[in-house]
Amino acid sequence: MNIKQIENKYFMHTYKRNNLVIKKAKNQFIWDENGKKYLDFFAGISVCNVGHCNDAVVKAAKMQLDDFTHVSNLYYMPVQVKLGEELVKRAFHGARVFFSNSGAEANECAIKLARKWGCLNPSKSGNRNRYEIICFNNSFHGRTIATLSATGQQKFHEYLKPLQEKFVFAEINNINSVKKIVNDKTVAVMIEPVQGEGGVVPANKTFLKNLRKFCDDKNLLLIFDEIQCGIGRTGKFYAFENYDINPDIVTMAKSLANGLPLGATIAGKECAETFVYGDHGSTFGGNPVSCAAALAVLKIMDAKFLSNSVKVARYLCEKLEDLRKKRTVIKEIRGIGLILGIDLKVNGQKIVDYCLDKGLIINCTHDTVLRLLPPLIITKADVDCAIKILGEVLECAIF
Ligand SMILES: Cc1ncc(COP(=O)(O)O)c(C=O)c1O
Repeated sequence: MNIKQIENKYFMHTYKRNNLVIKKAKNQFIWDENGKKYLDFFAGISVCNVGHCNDAVVKAAKMQLDDFTHVSNLYYMPVQVKLGEELVKRAFHGARVFFSNSGAEANECAIKLARKWGCLNPSKSGNRNRYEIICFNNSFHGRTIATLSATGQQKFHEYLKPLQEKFVFAEINNINSVKKIVNDKTVAVMIEPVQGEGGVVPANKTFLKNLRKFCDDKNLLLIFDEIQCGIGRTGKFYAFENYDINPDIVTMAKSLANGLPLGATIAGKECAETFVYGDHGSTFGGNPVSCAAALAVLKIMDAKFLSNSVKVARYLCEKLEDLRKKRTVIKEIRGIGLILGIDLKVNGQKIVDYCLDKGLIINCTHDTVLRLLPPLIITKADVDCAIKILGEVLECAIF
């Protein structure tokens, strides 16, 4: 049996895998088992933001592996403490961090924190029994039961009901839809600044500013899920830096440790302090090897690095807009920084397959949206190569 047949026989069929058996990856490139080279415009779903097997990240992780791999969160680990300090310093004044292993866990922590905060902090009318969280249609917050319940896409809910109660849904970029469903039991609003799985839909600045003001007026927590769009992807380290507002809680995972598992939930001091000893925990959360990798990521991701990624993102957007004018199958180009969507008039999966044949790795989400999430180290030459392939595929593909 070949690898595909073995996988098919022994694995639960939860992933529709692309036709690619990976041998090796370095920076913005991946090689398959036959030595064919691919340009990666997906970065493992927005994970390898500083490039595959980044030298500094690999070195830091290897050094930590030699020191200690795991001791548990019942002891102080210098590398973990340093990472917490660095993340909080980049966030907002007085914030505190909790480390986990994944995006879903980072959001679970945010949800638990919001619920406890809601019991201790009454609504404007004095209600201490608050637990409802306003989320958004087409959002994606993870695969655990609570984070699925916060996910505004019915297709993920099938066969799993009853889900966790008291998540309600508004429309992104429509403040009135939020105002309509708020009530005395609402405790928080949870949003991805750029919806990723939901078709690369950015929240606009006015909406987010209005949302911040609305949360302040109603004494609600504002939670930003930056798991896909954070850590430099929008051109700023935290996505919220683009909107001149601070959330009360921000969640991160994916590219935090550039491919090693790590999640983080950062909350403002007052909210974070509602958690006391024993309220939350994780055996592996904040694993020292992942933390060492993440510290290396932070070191790499300085102002110069981010400004280079913004320049290349602008170039990519211009080229995509040029392509849109030439290829009528493209409806719209959306996104910010290097989280970009090409909304098509047709289903995009075949286009993903054709691009793969030609050596370009992209993804399709929400049926019709080609999603580009390249490592932030791509060059203009890489953009030219990707645009050439996309142009050819979008011209030749038979729909
Ligand atoms: C915005 C967002 N939130 C949460 C998650 C869940 O992260 P994980 O798969 O690490 O649990 C994802 C994963 O794609 C995501 O894109």
